Amino acid sequence: MPIDVDRVRADTPGCSKVNHLNNAGAALPPRSVTQTMIDHLRLEAETGGYEAAAKAAPRLERCYDSVAALLNCHRDEVAIVENATRAWDMAFYSLPLGPGDRILTARAEYASNYIAFLQAAGRTGATVEAIADDADGQLDVDALRQALDDRVKLIAVTHVPTSGGLINPVEAIGAVARQAGVPFLLDACQSAGQMPLDVERLGCDMLSATGRKFLRGPRGVGFLYVRNSWIGKLEPPFLDLHSASWIAPDRYEMRADARRFETWEGNVAAKLGLGAAIDYALDLGLDAIRARCRTLADQLRQGLAALDGVTVHDTGRDKAAIVGFTKQGEEPRRIADRLSVLGINVSISTAQSTLIDMAARGLDAVVRASPHYYNTEEEIDRLVAAVRN
Ligand SMILES: Cc1ncc(COP(=O)(O)O)c(C=O)c1O
Repeated sequence: MPIDVDRVRADTPGCSKVNHLNNAGAALPPRSVTQTMIDHLRLEAETGGYEAAAKAAPRLERCYDSVAALLNCHRDEVAIVENATRAWDMAFYSLPLGPGDRILTARAEYASNYIAFLQAAGRTGATVEAIADDADGQLDVDALRQALDDRVKLIAVTHVPTSGGLINPVEAIGAVARQAGVPFLLDACQSAGQMPLDVERLGCDMLSATGRKFLRGPRGVGFLYVRNSWIGKLEPPFLDLHSASWIAPDRYEMRADARRFETWEGNVAAKLGLGAAIDYALDLGLDAIRARCRTLADQLRQGLAALDGVTVHDTGRDKAAIVGFTKQGEEPRRIADRLSVLGINVSISTAQSTLIDMAARGLDAVVRASPHYYNTEEEIDRLVAAVRN
């Protein structure tokens, strides 16, 4: 079923206030998400935080089912944490690395992930290598295959990078990783909520994502998937009385499920809001969401590319709903500020967020416009017209 744009806009109070094209930053939530959170915060205020959590326990448990349905995994393979970075970190820093071990990644890897690679490399003597891109600008799967040897201990790739429309060929990467028996950690922060994600098809062993971007959930919540066969092999860098049990004065036992990557304290309202956001997306259907995101992003790319002095920088064969562009004679920051005055929300991506990729392409910063299915064709036209003027 195609998206009923009028209906989803009516469900989204923010749509009547702004032309929100910053969904790669944080999307406008549907009313059900905001209401779920407000209801829980009110319950906490009126009955106490622990008492409210006890009342919400069955619904909180259902959030794990929602994530599992989104990813086609088992609920025991899901941890709900503060954000995508912590989710990714908990998986990455659990992997044992030693001198000479190799981490293979992509050129457009997200800064926080790459900083973690460098930190781990500095501590352990492992190395990190960004695999070359192919002619379309996406990770070259043949080059990845050729780079494999028995010292490769991790393949870690961002599905949709933060700064543009590239979609890395993750299913092919997953197949290579599986064949080689190397764990594959996928950063799905920008793809979750804008396209279907099936961990069996993707072939990833770990996947991280956030609530607030294309999933349209709250800020301050994210989740981690870890394949069942990997959970028992990974010792999280931090443990507490939720992720482990203190069973004797000198012994503890880690949980057997993915909640070993969580901590006890958390934002219950945000977790419930995440569950509501995922249910909303599943109800619309991720195929329908992807189709409409594509249509709007294509319209935006074509509109911008037709303007004098404007360059769209997105690479990759198939493209996501993130459009990175620059305009001759006007700094990205100035463009974003000018659009903001007109009620059009975009953001900018600087070279620091995907340093290797942006530096190789000679880019300091791009304007990042990221439509979602609830945007209209008219809103896209307004952005294009505002950039022209
Ligand atoms: C590709 C990618 N990975 C990870 C993150 C980090 O997500 P979070 O801010 O939820 O930790 C971002 C945020 O922009 C991102 O774009």
